[in-house]
Amino acid sequence: MPKITILSATDRPGSMALKVSKFVQTKFNEQGAETDLVSLEDYPLADVAGGKYGTDIPSVIDFNERVLDADGLVLVIPEYNGSFPGILKVFVDYLPFPEAFEKLPIAFIGEAAGAFGALRAVEQMQLIANYRNALNFPERVFMQRVSKIFNETDGITDQMTAQLMDSLVANFTSFTDLNKGERERKAGIKTA
Ligand SMILES: Cc1cc2nc3c(=O)[nH]c(=O)nc-3n(C[C@H](O)[C@H](O)[C@H](O)COP(=O)(O)O)c2cc1C
Repeated sequence: MPKITILSATDRPGSMALKVSKFVQTKFNEQGAETDLVSLEDYPLADVAGGKYGTDIPSVIDFNERVLDADGLVLVIPEYNGSFPGILKVFVDYLPFPEAFEKLPIAFIGEAAGAFGALRAVEQMQLIANYRNALNFPERVFMQRVSKIFNETDGITDQMTAQLMDSLVANFTSFTDLNKGERERKAGIKTA
């Protein structure tokens, strides 16, 4: 079974992204996947302040390794100002270039207060993942009006969204398992 990391892609305390990520982790566990949940709340932002590009920062190396040491990555992305949170771009900009996402299966879950469920945020992030040669998984879930259709006790209460989530979880587990070898075979993959 594949190892799948779920990344809650915001540093906002009390975010819905983290709650959704925990729910999604349970779903992947039910599929038999080995999972880890990482939150960008824990990103060592203070250690990159001032623009520490091109330097080896142990806390950043450790954080990146925890996210990238997986056969597949699930990004749970809220919409902030018609885009994804700034901390997600900081995280990406401090990843090892160019290899970090090379042939890495990535699935995208958007969630937002608004009616589009972070469609814009996800699609903007998909452009970056494409550029970095990730294997973008084609099924996506957009959780519209997230606080109305999701809570930690009942999970997803909107039937259509719940079905789409179940489908993404089952099929991304298989997709990740199928592509496991690709990433391992690719020469020069380093996670740090
Ligand atoms: C800085 C900021 C900007 C936001 N911009 C948008 C937006 O453009 N569209 C939207 O639907 N919701 C927006 N929201 C509301 C979030 O979608 C809402 O907080 C939702 O719960 C998802 O974010 P969370 O994971 O941080 O909880 C914004 C929230 C913050 C904190």
